[in-house]
Amino acid sequence: MDDRFSNPGRRDVLHALSAALVAAGLLRATSARAAACGVTAATTAGPFYVGNAPSLADINRHGATGTPMRIAGTVFGGPDGRRPLPGAVVEIWHCDADGDYHPDGSGDVSRYAPEQVNLRGVGLTGARGDFRFDSIVPGHYGNRRRHIHWRFVAEGHRPLVTQSYWLDERGTLRERLDFVDRGTDDCRWVRFEMEEGIARGRFDVVLAPIG
Ligand SMILES: [Fe+2]
Repeated sequence: MDDRFSNPGRRDVLHALSAALVAAGLLRATSARAAACGVTAATTAGPFYVGNAPSLADINRHGATGTPMRIAGTVFGGPDGRRPLPGAVVEIWHCDADGDYHPDGSGDVSRYAPEQVNLRGVGLTGARGDFRFDSIVPGHYGNRRRHIHWRFVAEGHRPLVTQSYWLDERGTLRERLDFVDRGTDDCRWVRFEMEEGIARGRFDVVLAPIG
């Protein structure tokens, strides 16, 4: 037997190396797709933006019921829109499965009791410009498409407030009745797939450099 492959240390190194190569390949693929869309378009923050939301990766801190959701992505920038941006601020907020926001209002988070604040959070991108949030799938309200609100802030780039949507609602009556944010660019329609009971989606964004 070739002892190169019976040596656990060596095997672990090979495993880590192949995982890194897969990750690098995925990053190139998402970078190309994000760059093809150009700078991510802005849209309204809506009436339910609350400032200074808590720093969280699992934003369902009060256990709202619904289908578990994990959304991850990479923030890109630079002159060609392909440079991952570490340390970017990523803020997320969305309604619960019944279409209600928590709180159902705006202003600074200090206006509300902690138990009123849910499904909102802020994080920083990692070394590869990556971010990830766990939550539940939002419901519908009014004539809106199902959506997630986002705010991105990175040094040397223009801040971005935008929304992402569910690809399976594209072209449906629900989309046609939603007059907020017409002409949504391709990269803001996110494909969600169920895996191990969790709806998983990927949202990559490109920020515009300043100057
Ligand atoms: Fe909304």
